[in-house]
Amino acid sequence: MNKTNVLLIGSGGREHAIAWKLAQSPLLNRLFIAPGNAGTAKVGINMPLAIIDFENIKQFVLSNSIDLLVVGPEEPLVKGIHDFFLNDELLKCIPVIGPQKAGAELEGSKDFAKRFMIKHGIPTAAYQTFSAETLDEGLAFLKTLNPPFVLKADGLAAGKGVVICKTVEEAETELTDMLANRKFGNASTLVVIEEFLDGIELSAFAITNGKEYLMLPEAKDYKRIGEGDSGPNTGGMGSISPVPFVDAKFRSMVEERIIKPTIEGLRKDGIPYQGFLFFGLMNVKGNPIVIEYNVRLGDPETESILPRIKTDLLEIFLATAQGRLSEIKLEIDPQTAACVMIVSGGYPDDYEKGKTVSGFENISKSFVFHAGTSFDGETVVTSGGRVIAVTSLADTISSAVSQTLKSATNIIFENSYLRRDIGKDLIEQKFEK
Ligand code: AMP
Ligand code: GLY
Repeated sequence: MNKTNVLLIGSGGREHAIAWKLAQSPLLNRLFIAPGNAGTAKVGINMPLAIIDFENIKQFVLSNSIDLLVVGPEEPLVKGIHDFFLNDELLKCIPVIGPQKAGAELEGSKDFAKRFMIKHGIPTAAYQTFSAETLDEGLAFLKTLNPPFVLKADGLAAGKGVVICKTVEEAETELTDMLANRKFGNASTLVVIEEFLDGIELSAFAITNGKEYLMLPEAKDYKRIGEGDSGPNTGGMGSISPVPFVDAKFRSMVEERIIKPTIEGLRKDGIPYQGFLFFGLMNVKGNPIVIEYNVRLGDPETESILPRIKTDLLEIFLATAQGRLSEIKLEIDPQTAACVMIVSGGYPDDYEKGKTVSGFENISKSFVFHAGTSFDGETVVTSGGRVIAVTSLADTISSAVSQTLKSATNIIFENSYLRRDIGKDLIEQKFEK
């Protein structure tokens, strides 16, 4: 049997976790990561290609006999990398994991995602969308709502496009900034104002080819920089999987009310979809409500869900592309995975790069995924805000987190920071199994 050459696009902790998992597959021939990081270099070959330079990616794919393209982050998907492959005579036979532009709009446009959910009866917060032309109506709409106010820039805004305002005055200023002053550039040409949902957040995942799907383990992400969920939002400071309040009943509600109607809705609307679906959910009094869609895996959720998946990830990708996903029986480790992100001091605001990172050799009981590192000669140095994700598996949340924190103390770089309270809310609310 011919083994598969894979090109994986991206350079974060998610991509290191995907690369680490793919590298374990007996079906793999060569794994390339573009551009990758110091961690992915240990499990594959890094290629210094820009993730949205489709022409260069094409040349690389053709000259290295790539059989499968796996896209980690959303940007190349929203910019149409899958369409680029399908529209090219030489590339169109190479399967891509990641949706075409039309499907990527679920993440690329909040307004599109809301219209899609309403049309297909998928539970989501009530909303209205406004533009600069309808700013006055938006300001009037705010006066009809109860605080807090949720304002969302329509387009991709590097994770900063959602603003939650406590007072109507704050919300009016924010809406004006987004629409009239283009606070987020083209991303805030439209702004979605939606009902505030009070509950506990979680992330659910599926992989689909538009007909079949496989539900993956869920995770809880910790978005704020500070302990006790304080301070500004980050890309995510840690994750726990599974989420203890997701029992069989809740899981089946997620599947029946959200996952199935989403895939069916895409099909009815004639939108092809091959890749991951990431459902940002709020558990509101026991009912899952969609906060947002993403068209990729989450980061740092991937770093806690992939270590729990025992099934060959490359086999899952090939089955997705070949229309035989229903043959796959997903095998999941019942243990809890706890991931903690070690970040650069100052993140998510300004931080310094180029700090030497050491201590990897002292970790044996946890997985280490590089999120923002590169090589400076032989030395691993920081190259991003989120630097290293450490994940451990154990029987309980407390023991998994405590192993992760113990391992994390071995990773040394100047001015590092991590949250010590990942999973604490789940333990304190007696959700711990
Ligand atoms: P997003 O970028 O859509 O993930 O939103 C960022 C964060 O804003 C989410 O993780 C939630 O914590 C919060 N959020 C978004 N929409 C709502 C909502 N309707 N109600 C309450 N919180 C929300
Ligand atoms: N951790 C949230 C995300 O990947 O968007």
